[in-house]
Amino acid sequence: MLKQVAEAQEEERKRIARDLHDGVAQTLVPVPIKINHLMKNNDFPENVASELRDVEETVSGALREIRCICTGVGPGLMIDLGLIDTLTTLVGSMRKRGQTIITLNIEGNHRKLPKETEQALFRIAQESLNNIWKHAEAKKATLKIAYEKNRIFMSISDDGKGFDTNVKSSGNLGLRIIRERARLLNADLRIDSANGKGTTISVTIKK
Ligand SMILES: Nc1ncnc2c1ncn2[C@@H]1O[C@H](COP(=O)(O)OP(=O)(O)OP(=O)(O)O)[C@@H](O)[C@H]1O
Ligand SMILES: [Mg+2]
Repeated sequence: MLKQVAEAQEEERKRIARDLHDGVAQTLVPVPIKINHLMKNNDFPENVASELRDVEETVSGALREIRCICTGVGPGLMIDLGLIDTLTTLVGSMRKRGQTIITLNIEGNHRKLPKETEQALFRIAQESLNNIWKHAEAKKATLKIAYEKNRIFMSISDDGKGFDTNVKSSGNLGLRIIRERARLLNADLRIDSANGKGTTISVTIKK
């Protein structure tokens, strides 16, 4: 029975990998090529060139991620780097998008966590920061991770417009996936938000 479940999951993983590779990746592949072509053949003002480089880097990054997911190694950024370096890189790239002042707060002596835990924490931070960028209209945001003796605590907070957590939107995936990842980690998850009051997402993993 267990073996059948594992086989079915593996089949499903392969199907998703095929769809990602043949569908999403193949659609995106021409984008960086076209941008590079445009840049080579035109003399854009520096601000336009810099925006184009940003788009090129973003799409190339997405393609690397897809390749990593398809080969089953998890988030591309995390192949060589640990969680702290990856979070630092993430915050750096979110800062470049402007708009919100983002503080990264690392407390305690960081230690290596199981790969799945580090990947899930990274994904939760990434989706939360993306949500701040997309929805919050915040002045400030803070990503905090604290390595305490008996628990790991991570929070992502902003002082933006907040939202009503009781309204369940059916089309959106981000928060649902965050809940799912926290459940798989056996972590406590809190999503605190209210209209006009900002948002805080916190995850606690007990050892
Ligand atoms: N930090 C935030 N500030 C304000 N509103 C937020 C914040 N995070 C989430 N929301 C609200 O909660 C909704 C659900 O978020 P969720 O991440 O699930 O979906 P989404 O970002 O709209 O789409 P996606 O599926 O691409 O993540 C958002 O549409 C937004 O209205
Ligand atoms: Mg989202």
